[in-house]
Amino acid sequence: MDRLAKLSEADKEAFSIIKSELERQEDGLEMIPSENFVSKAVLEAMGSVFTNKYSEGYPGKRYYGGNQFADEIETLAIERAKKAFGVPHANVQPYSGSPANLAVYFAVCKKGDTIMGHNLPDGGHLTHGWKASITGQWFNSVPYHVKEDGYLDLDEIRRLALEHRPKLIWVGATAYVREFPFEALGKIADEAGAYLVADIAHVAGLVIGGAHKSPVEHAHIITTTTHKTLRGPRGGMIMVTEKGLKNDPELAQKIDRAIFPGLQGGPHDHTTAGIAVALGEDLKPEFREYAGQVVKNAKALAEGLMKNGVKLVTNGTDNHMMLIDLTAEGPGRGVFLQNALELAGITVNKNTIPNDPSSPFYPSGVRLGTPALTTRGMKEVEMQKIAVWIADMVNEIKKYRLPAEKSEIGGYVKNFREEMKGNAVVNKLRAEVLGLCKKFPLYGSLMR
Ligand SMILES: Cc1ncc(COP(=O)(O)O)c(C=O)c1O
Repeated sequence: MDRLAKLSEADKEAFSIIKSELERQEDGLEMIPSENFVSKAVLEAMGSVFTNKYSEGYPGKRYYGGNQFADEIETLAIERAKKAFGVPHANVQPYSGSPANLAVYFAVCKKGDTIMGHNLPDGGHLTHGWKASITGQWFNSVPYHVKEDGYLDLDEIRRLALEHRPKLIWVGATAYVREFPFEALGKIADEAGAYLVADIAHVAGLVIGGAHKSPVEHAHIITTTTHKTLRGPRGGMIMVTEKGLKNDPELAQKIDRAIFPGLQGGPHDHTTAGIAVALGEDLKPEFREYAGQVVKNAKALAEGLMKNGVKLVTNGTDNHMMLIDLTAEGPGRGVFLQNALELAGITVNKNTIPNDPSSPFYPSGVRLGTPALTTRGMKEVEMQKIAVWIADMVNEIKKYRLPAEKSEIGGYVKNFREEMKGNAVVNKLRAEVLGLCKKFPLYGSLMR
């Protein structure tokens, strides 16, 4: 398939950059748990003529003409979303996960209302009330935490909810490795008279594929991104459950109005087309197998890492991701492992761990996961191999410490990177990673 033939002729510069990115994706192990590889079908839908269309409004109620097919594609995406999650209402227009979450506030809160969410350094998301986000500045944010063992502190959540009576409580996170206790949070929200909003951005695909419990019975509203385990294009969705409608029969209209005209203008119809195609794939039996394998791979990887001496937050995982705790040799060392692995062709991200002794920019952990590798077809055997490689790298960087003096950190990390470029373990691993990637080709002839 010569998919980018026109681009290669029309704009050699842009083509060459895109080609390099394709090669980076094909020749490396993508282990950032919020990333995945969409199918060629989804890529084609994203690159379709729907990018030319304006369709402010909703199917059947548009502000522009010529929307017959935009209506059809959006309706297809909505119906598939409703079927995939078993909900009565879905809005597929959010540009991404963050605007989806902002729209929820706009639909059910007033500026200054009290809200509760999973604290960011404990794994929560910015949009759940973190102080640097508009959500932490325009609302009275009461964060909840994880316990010493890394699991959510349900006693604290209940105590805070009854004390502060928030308008809404978020459940969902960006770096939490255990199953979300939707049922318990649903009860707490009911007791406190709050909306429970499940942000399942990370685990949406696992929920559809039956590899993670569903929040549908317990939450009033569900938000998600579409580009993580759901394996679609970059986008977002908001769903309203039967429980939500029972609480407020107008909740669906409030959500729709919050997205448009409240927060956004014209929907990205090419993305909507990609979401429709991705959800079509998610509804197939093969996707159930995929979701199950993502979790099996994560458990195999976690076991392998721990067997080889790597410390993990909560000593394992229930979902698609895990968090390496590097504090044994000092705070703020995630940057070393991320950089060393990147040079070897393994992409992960530095991340805070619960009670991190360092800062969000120089956190003490590394977050990694299996959705993208599983899409490539890798299974437990490959995970065991990768676990040994990562453990070797954890050992290799043991002697490096983050300088206590802030002004020295930049230079130290730069030198570390230079030194690692000549490191024998890094270079041996780079060759091994390439060999493994060749066995699991990604897009084949996409650009050649
Ligand atoms: C739990 C959660 N919610 C929301 C988002 C925001 O999504 P986006 O980056 O698409 O705005 C993320 C992104 O990582 C996330 O992990």
